[in-house]
Amino acid sequence: MSLVAHKPLLATVKGERQGRPPIWVMRQAGRYLPEYRETRKQAGGFLDLCYTPELAAEVTLQPLRRFDLDAAILFSDILVIPDALGQPVRFEVGEGPILDPLGAKDIARLDLARAQEHLQPVLETLKRVRAALPQEKTLIGFCGSPWTVATYMLAGRGSPDQWVARRFALEHPEAFDRLLDVLVEASIDYLAAQFAAGADVVQLFESWALNLDDAAFARQVIEPNRRIVEGLRRRVPDAPVIGFPRGAAGNLRRYAHETGVNALGLDYSTPLDYPASVLDAGLPVQGNLDPLRLLVGGAAMEGRVAEIIAAFADRPHIFNLGHGIVPDTPISHMERLVELVKKT
Ligand code: CP3
Repeated sequence: MSLVAHKPLLATVKGERQGRPPIWVMRQAGRYLPEYRETRKQAGGFLDLCYTPELAAEVTLQPLRRFDLDAAILFSDILVIPDALGQPVRFEVGEGPILDPLGAKDIARLDLARAQEHLQPVLETLKRVRAALPQEKTLIGFCGSPWTVATYMLAGRGSPDQWVARRFALEHPEAFDRLLDVLVEASIDYLAAQFAAGADVVQLFESWALNLDDAAFARQVIEPNRRIVEGLRRRVPDAPVIGFPRGAAGNLRRYAHETGVNALGLDYSTPLDYPASVLDAGLPVQGNLDPLRLLVGGAAMEGRVAEIIAAFADRPHIFNLGHGIVPDTPISHMERLVELVKKT
């Protein structure tokens, strides 16, 4: 008998199809849970919660106490990287993240050594979660992909069209490439440290893979993600990676085939027949229920869950939403979703 516990979600990322799809949910720890809102109050600010291992580990584990999920995802945020590199991030209620926008001259001051030091509490959170997590549950680490993180660093906030960062990439090509280099390096260090602290798999969140022509997509999305996967595997051989290029649409196939990720996260706009017609047979996929179907529940959700499971039945599939759960989602709908997937 193998001494290593079977982790269905990790096995799926590595390409083994399971009898039923394992399930986790993006943003599964968060505001739709009263116990999250309670812990969040104790922490003070949102980043204080991310940097307090005791509380961050508690919040990471909360959804697994309620729902029979197959994985815990580290509770942190993609914007701890700029914060750690020396560009402070604030979260203001109702506003989302705010940073002082980075100029071309500021890039040389980003400090990789400081970043590794600053992120120690996040690694401590992973160690605590690992120690508390049942063996068969997969522990997911993550970071934001360089382009997505750069959009916040350059604009100082989120924006629907990433105009500021897209323009900067064209007007200041050298400074922009240097920024991507710094983010690639910081991400490799950070993800390698996450594996050392107990992560089984990591997800690259490329939340703003939309609005790019194919030349920009190759430069800003494919190349940095490919370099992270390659650099990470030099430190952690065979490191399992899920890539989630949200909105990649017609560029999705190239992302899947050129970055080296093990598994591809699909957003909810990806047609269910797309993987079969376009992606390599056997490539694991993750997704892709519209979070609004989970919010509304009932008929809006149930039929679609069955369709998703049927559509991906011939390849390794991890059930998930096609983007993060929204705060007003009723807990009973999450319970029902997990039940539906588990009885497949
Ligand atoms: O999935 C999880 O449960 C793990 C934790 C996690 C959070 N953010 C916690 C969070 C993860 C993996 C993220 C990723 C993240 N953060 C992304 C990529 C995924 C995506 O949603 O596209 C992005 C773009 C961010 C940046 C970010 N963080 C924004 C734009 C916001 C504000 C919007 C919002 O939902 O409030 C956050 C805040 C944030 N990150 C919250 C949580 C639980 C809410 C903060 C609160 O408690 O008030």
